Amino acid sequence: RRDFLIAPSILSADFARLGEEVDNVLASGADIVHFDVMDNHYVPNLTIGPMVCQALRKHGVTAPIDAHLMVKPVDRLIDDFIEAGATYITFHPEASEHIDRSLQLIRAGGCKAGLVFNPATPLSYLDYVMDKVDMILLMSVNPGFGGQAFIPGTLDKLREARRRIDASGYEIRLEIDGGVKVDNIAEIARAGADTFVAGSAVFGATSEADPHRYDSVLRAF
Ligand code: DX5
Ligand code: ZN
Repeated sequence: RRDFLIAPSILSADFARLGEEVDNVLASGADIVHFDVMDNHYVPNLTIGPMVCQALRKHGVTAPIDAHLMVKPVDRLIDDFIEAGATYITFHPEASEHIDRSLQLIRAGGCKAGLVFNPATPLSYLDYVMDKVDMILLMSVNPGFGGQAFIPGTLDKLREARRRIDASGYEIRLEIDGGVKVDNIAEIARAGADTFVAGSAVFGATSEADPHRYDSVLRAF
């Protein structure tokens, strides 16, 4: 059995109470904080940047922060997220002029590096960089928004990514992002994912009275 990690996406959290939301979700059993960075250029939405990542560290968050960069260009923000205390930094290969260089920048800064694949982006981008990635992130929705439906074809792609990882012999996490819910997570895990981003499924599961209100959904995962 692989070790499975749950990475709630704070895109669906209440930004006005972000520190508290992150504390609650971690206290409820989450493993990683998934941090969606959108620039209104590479994707049609605008979210949060390195200052907010740094603020979470200052607030006392010690869990891994998984910065998912949906930005173009990527390299300058890589430096900023290294400074801001990110643990993982992942980017979309189409958004980088020099993929190998961007991957090297991330590791040189002491962070774990990852490539992100949109639903129609081929895994062949991995061909010459398997030794330089710590994480492969497959998007199961088109990036830009939370709350979209899981694209079923991603399951075959997960199986292919799992084969590539196992054949490589490297230690690489296989993360899935988009439309992950309590009722499809088992199938997604069987297809080979070991790290699960979930935004609306986690932060949408509120029950007024309970201060640790994410326990039940995280247990259901
Ligand atoms: C989409 C983001 C996702 C998003 C997932 O571009 O990368 O991380 O927050 O949200 P859900 O789980 O609601 O699909
Ligand atoms: Zn994401």
